[in-house]
Amino acid sequence: MKQRNIGSDSVSAIGLGLMGMSEFYGAADRAQSIGVIHHALDHGVNLLDTADMYGSGHNEELLGEALRGRRDQAFVATKFGVVRGPGGSFDGIDGRPEYVRKQAEGSLRRLGIDTIDLYYQHRVDPDTPIEETVGEMSRLVEEGKVRYLGMSEAAPATIRRAQAVHPISALQTEYSLWTRDPEAELLALTAELGITFVAYSPLGRGFLSGAIKSIDDLAEDDFRRGNERFQGENFQKNLELVAEVEAMAGSKGVTSAQLALAWILAKAPHVIPIPGTRKIRRLDENRAAAKVELTAAEVGHLDDVLPFGATAGLRYPEYAMATLNL
Ligand SMILES: NC(=O)c1ccc[n+]([C@@H]2O[C@H](COP(=O)([O-])OP(=O)(O)OC[C@H]3O[C@@H](n4cnc5c(N)ncnc54)[C@H](OP(=O)(O)O)[C@@H]3O)[C@@H](O)[C@H]2O)c1
Repeated sequence: MKQRNIGSDSVSAIGLGLMGMSEFYGAADRAQSIGVIHHALDHGVNLLDTADMYGSGHNEELLGEALRGRRDQAFVATKFGVVRGPGGSFDGIDGRPEYVRKQAEGSLRRLGIDTIDLYYQHRVDPDTPIEETVGEMSRLVEEGKVRYLGMSEAAPATIRRAQAVHPISALQTEYSLWTRDPEAELLALTAELGITFVAYSPLGRGFLSGAIKSIDDLAEDDFRRGNERFQGENFQKNLELVAEVEAMAGSKGVTSAQLALAWILAKAPHVIPIPGTRKIRRLDENRAAAKVELTAAEVGHLDDVLPFGATAGLRYPEYAMATLNL
């Protein structure tokens, strides 16, 4: 597996997102999910991405079970900040120091580990100065509970303020052929500050793979049904964009998912995509994308057929857009 860097660690150039193993994208099978995590570790995909809020703790417990006896093979990244209430309700964003500490301790317990490799603030809390949140995160580093700090969906000015308190090692933000917003500022800023850019939803929540051709391909309770990009006319327009990816993938002899991941890897050496899957065959397909080389002309062609703003629909429903620090 090719490697990229987070802090002074070497990690797999393509990670594995675990979110769908607990929530959002339909039902998941626990034993199968653990099998996928083990298969990832067997093949050197060691950057494993979870969060306290995925399944309200379920996802971290699942990872904890999968890591038993294998902790040393994994680079564990988790997050705090999105508050879940009883029954799974979404109860806002919290970045207060006491909440940071409580969540970190809960994550360590659920994961069954002594140290979190990378601890992200999942969403910036508009009511807590970032200096206070990162200040508490830095104390977790001093105490050996956390190794590296990260932020997610944070704006450039917030990242600079955070970095003044403690080095930020990773920024995790949505980035893919259909969400090219980070190219405006964040990719250059993170490169300048020595921050790894972790690209989440790199397959456009599965859409860019070409596997989703109709809304009926999604379960009734699938979170994507509430996303404009998967609705009505937008869905049809976005399928036309995917047809461009499929055409190029076909002529190159790779899959659309591989092409979408290779495009991200080609964009900059400090970017790491973390596709999510619950299936071993797709994990194998996705990790093989690290070997797909794109010429500058091929990258340019994809840039041209899926330019910024081409995707129809917002990347999140309005209520979730409001939690982004833009
Ligand atoms: N920081 C944040 O706010 C944030 C937000 C969202 C996600 N994330 C993280 O980023 C990770 C990845 O993002 P994501 O899961 O939202 O989206 P994604 O990786 O773009 O897409 C995942 C979806 O694509 C499907 N898929 C995966 N590989 C495929 C392939 N080769 N061919 C066809 N379909 C494929 C998966 O289905 P199957 O599972 O059925 O294979 C799943 O439905 C998450 O797991 C999570 O850790 C972070």
